[in-house]
Amino acid sequence: MATKKLFIRTFGCQMNVHDSEQLEELLKVAGYARAESAKDADLVIVNTCSIRDKAEQKVYSQLGRYRHLKKSKPHLQIGVCGCVAQQHGERLLEKAPFLDLVIGTHNLDRLPECIARARQTGRPVVETAFRETVPSIGIPTLPAEGSVSAFVTIMQGCDNYCAFCVVPYLRGREESRGFEDILAEVNALAARGVKEVTLLGQNVNAYGKSFGGKHSFAQLLRAIGAVPGIGRIRFTTSHPKDLSDDIIACFREMKNLCESIHLPVQSGSDEILARMNRRYTSADYLDRVRRLREASPEIAITSDIIVGFPGETEQDYQKTLDLMEKVRFDTVFSFRYSERQGTAAVGLGGKVDPGEKRRRLIELQALQDRHTQEKHDSLVGRTVEVLVDGTSRNTDRDVTGRTRSNKIVNFAGGRDLIGRTVRVRIVAAFLHSLRGEMLEGEGGFPGCSSR
Ligand code: SAH
Ligand code: SF4
Ligand code: F3S
Repeated sequence: MATKKLFIRTFGCQMNVHDSEQLEELLKVAGYARAESAKDADLVIVNTCSIRDKAEQKVYSQLGRYRHLKKSKPHLQIGVCGCVAQQHGERLLEKAPFLDLVIGTHNLDRLPECIARARQTGRPVVETAFRETVPSIGIPTLPAEGSVSAFVTIMQGCDNYCAFCVVPYLRGREESRGFEDILAEVNALAARGVKEVTLLGQNVNAYGKSFGGKHSFAQLLRAIGAVPGIGRIRFTTSHPKDLSDDIIACFREMKNLCESIHLPVQSGSDEILARMNRRYTSADYLDRVRRLREASPEIAITSDIIVGFPGETEQDYQKTLDLMEKVRFDTVFSFRYSERQGTAAVGLGGKVDPGEKRRRLIELQALQDRHTQEKHDSLVGRTVEVLVDGTSRNTDRDVTGRTRSNKIVNFAGGRDLIGRTVRVRIVAAFLHSLRGEMLEGEGGFPGCSSR
């Protein structure tokens, strides 16, 4: 029997990217191989994100394109997975009656069986029930030979209910994955030659809380740090309220914990933080930043910020800019507040005018661009450690990789450097990347235990 072809289009966060990797693994077992494009596929999966209205609208325009494809290729199956599927379930079929599958965030493991059911019955299959545990969390996705980095999911769901955020309604209750299970996966990845792992969860700092504190996130970090071959560890995302001194100490103690943290602040105004239900103040946040820098002076700190949350006045907004001046983030992902159905903020007064939100965002991004450029400029002339992860998109004479602080560096070199850690002198700095020159005599060394 000829192999069936699968095309997955992914939207959203790194967790979604990893979910897609897991879906692909599952479907490989079910006899599917990757198609180069949707046109060549027998099955198209759209793995969706609903975090802001714009993210959701992108999914619908993509589906519109696939609908046309189905007209010329009637045997094509089209499925929607992930957060938009979870949010709308059956109702998605009213908007998109051509769909064969609607599979929510807790049911990805059921995809093969659902595909078969949809074929047999000729009717769409919808699976969006929440379950105690999410079996797909542990699907091993041993990356292709030669892969450098891998994601490892360490927890599911979120119980924080930030007033703006739809995630707790789409990903369910916060639940940590078993300690041994995670370690077994990291060991298997290391045996496969993976050098860098990124631990994933909506709030990784709270790891272990769901099983009564038997294992903490700091303990997990230290255990992963002891796995031979894993030279770099990263994690995302951290909630400032759960960033303990023990986690901060890991940055001081662990050689293979990269000097980089994504620590979303959302706002610099205490009134807005309280309305957002973030459960920290701007002073708490600044204190965490100070401790992080004390433990690890070179640490790169990145963040998420929302402008125009209901009730945000010009003064509140100015406090966010003030906080940015105090912290000087390496990068900020900034967003205009987007109202999401079912969240607490829907009921809040003081909606901010869309034009005003746009103005605040543009101004804030200009400030951040200045800070990012200054940070990058300060690296010119310095030597950094780069883990090479591929060839450059623009020319095959260059390779690309990341510093421990997670900045992209491009430099002249061949494919043989992929998977190696080399020392590179930074010669030019741009807003989104750095240009470097590999130090002479650097053949590259596997692993990366030096700082
Ligand atoms: N779990 C992560 C973030 C998940 S969503 C955390 O707690 O940090 C990623 C970012 O999207 C959030 O940090 C927030 O800045 C932004 N975001 C979430 N909901 C939003 C909304 N309704 N409007 C605008 N931005 C939003
Ligand atoms: Fe959303 Fe807050 Fe949970 Fe992050 S911590 S996923 S922002 S509810
Ligand atoms: Fe989007 Fe769902 Fe991630 S809403 S940000 S894909 S958890």
